[in-house]
Amino acid sequence: MSQKTIKQVGVLTSGGDAPGMNAAIRSVVRTGIEKGWAVFGVRRGYEGLINGDYISMNRRSVSNIIQAGGTMLGSARCPEFKTAEGRSKAVRALNQNEIDALVIIGGNGSQTGAHALSEMGVPVVGVASTIDNDLYGSDITIGVDTALDVALEAVDRLKVTASSHQRAFLVEVMGRDCGYLALMIALAGGAEYVVIPEIEIDPEVLAQELVAAYERGKSHALVIVAEGAAYNAEKLASYFKQHEERLGFDLRVTNLGHVQRGGTPNAFDRILATRLGAGATDCLARGEYGVLVGLIRSEVTATPLSEVVTKKKPLDLKLFKLAAVLAK
Ligand code: ADP
Ligand code: F6P
Repeated sequence: MSQKTIKQVGVLTSGGDAPGMNAAIRSVVRTGIEKGWAVFGVRRGYEGLINGDYISMNRRSVSNIIQAGGTMLGSARCPEFKTAEGRSKAVRALNQNEIDALVIIGGNGSQTGAHALSEMGVPVVGVASTIDNDLYGSDITIGVDTALDVALEAVDRLKVTASSHQRAFLVEVMGRDCGYLALMIALAGGAEYVVIPEIEIDPEVLAQELVAAYERGKSHALVIVAEGAAYNAEKLASYFKQHEERLGFDLRVTNLGHVQRGGTPNAFDRILATRLGAGATDCLARGEYGVLVGLIRSEVTATPLSEVVTKKKPLDLKLFKLAAVLAK
């Protein structure tokens, strides 16, 4: 895409919010202003983009937000943007407001939208941000590390009460159709088993594993279940209930849900977001559009959105085997 003179840049956050999004907004605003551009915040993701809901930002607009979870610009799921008509409305609003380029902070769906805009000729740069860590083009995405911290605090507490009562606990965690969060929580939380979408399990095998753990002298059994697994916590619990007499488990279920998204961003996420936000304005300044800014092998990188939306980031399944060894 040919380089365009940039005077005004928009920044938005879209999809599921993630701790560190505010630090990314702050970085885009301040590094953009440093480059001599006027920066506009777009409210509520693609919804605001379509409706022309843009606010002028200065360096002070992003004061005191680096430590705040959520997103000061708001976020949304916007079905209208998935339609060609919705996207045309967004491009018209951008032109009317003389916004020359956009930084889109979000996950898989948001970057698919960013790619669609880029295909329509809008200079766009994405920033990898989702607690699911399922984006091709970044080893780690903004928000995951804090989400892990939040989930682990809960898991550690559940372990205490599970031990007192010699109980088995199923703990369901987020991640959509990716098992990254569940696997990392299992590893860091010392779980007895982890159920992820990438590996099918038979509930009978899980039951045998739990019995084996008990026979090895364990005082509790903690099973981390990814929400996207074919057997999620609800289905597993109902299977165990149905076969209660035979399996003989006193099983409890905890669904961590949205608690995982609401944390105060930790140091890692603040620094990652700061680096990626700055990387995004650097890309725009170089005329490198239609890319996702992420972190690969600790370096800030730009990967074409065309690759990001067509390739799947693999989960390191060696870690699944390691979790099983360590659970013994
Ligand atoms: P995330 O970005 O966290 O994965 P979603 O999947 O909900 O969250 O996507 C956020 C928004 O991105 C959607 O509400 C929609 O507006 C836009 N989006 C998602 N998929 C597409 C698509 N295939 N084409 C255009 N826009 C999309
Ligand atoms: O993509 C982030 C995420 O938190 C997923 O892990 C989860 O499946 C989804 O968003 C929940 O979305 P909502 O907040 O719309 O219920």
